[in-house]
Amino acid sequence: MQKVSMGIQVSSLNKFYGQTQVLHDISFSCQQGETLVLLGPSGAGKSSLLRILNLLETAGSGQLQIAGQAFNFDAPIAEKNGLALRRKVGMVFQQYNLWPHLTVLENLIEAPVKVAGMSKAAAIEEAQSILATLQLAAKADAWPLHLSGGQQQRVAIARALMMKPEVLLFDEPTAALDPEITNQVVNIINDLSDTGITQVVVTHEVDFARKIASHVLYLEQGHIVEHGSKDAFTNPSTAAFAEYLTH
Ligand SMILES: Nc1ncnc2c1ncn2[C@@H]1O[C@H](COP(=O)(O)OP(=O)(O)OP(=O)(O)O)[C@@H](O)[C@H]1O
Ligand SMILES: [Mg+2]
Repeated sequence: MQKVSMGIQVSSLNKFYGQTQVLHDISFSCQQGETLVLLGPSGAGKSSLLRILNLLETAGSGQLQIAGQAFNFDAPIAEKNGLALRRKVGMVFQQYNLWPHLTVLENLIEAPVKVAGMSKAAAIEEAQSILATLQLAAKADAWPLHLSGGQQQRVAIARALMMKPEVLLFDEPTAALDPEITNQVVNIINDLSDTGITQVVVTHEVDFARKIASHVLYLEQGHIVEHGSKDAFTNPSTAAFAEYLTH
């Protein structure tokens, strides 16, 4: 595992589930600080690609550079590499995945204290600061299930931020949210972008994508069809992406 430059680089990545190939020769790079939106029809391989980026899944072959680390999928990757990488590459899921038996504050400090060895006092201080930034200070002692969907999603983002990730991955973060709450997530992602963090966001919502993207990667059936800057939303270079944008 060698040290490499920041940002994300994916080379010749192939992914199979059993006999079925779901990602075909995927290569792209993403500079530090970009917000890359992954778009594509259901089953295109967006979530599979996202999960490979933090080693929640491995690929059959190919290379990945992310958060200053390099991985080669042609050889097996030890589970401890995944655990270490996920401290630097955080993930926010559509279903929030908050622990229901822990308060908001406890959800935030759990991993930093138990996994990363942060002191409890420092973790609480950091959690309160992040909750304040995300306008959740009043909810520190609430139970997740007593919060609205939008509040739960912001807690999930806050929890990911506790590890001070270099890269933040989102899988359909607004799929269950109404338009006003979606706009709050837009603002959070754009504010995070100003801090220099690299973000990769899977979504089905083109309007949401347009508001956050610096770059876009459009997939169909496991193939990259279009990759470009956000200008691709107004000037798509492929007929397939142009067609997708009309939905
Ligand atoms: N654990 C799995 N085992 C077997 N096949 C899987 C698994 N996960 C995904 N697949 C298959 O891989 C393909 C890509 O799935 P993936 O979830 O990456 O698509 P997606 O683009 O995220 O779709 P959606 O927009 O519906 O979330 C699909 O054909 C899916 O059925
Ligand atoms: Mg998906």
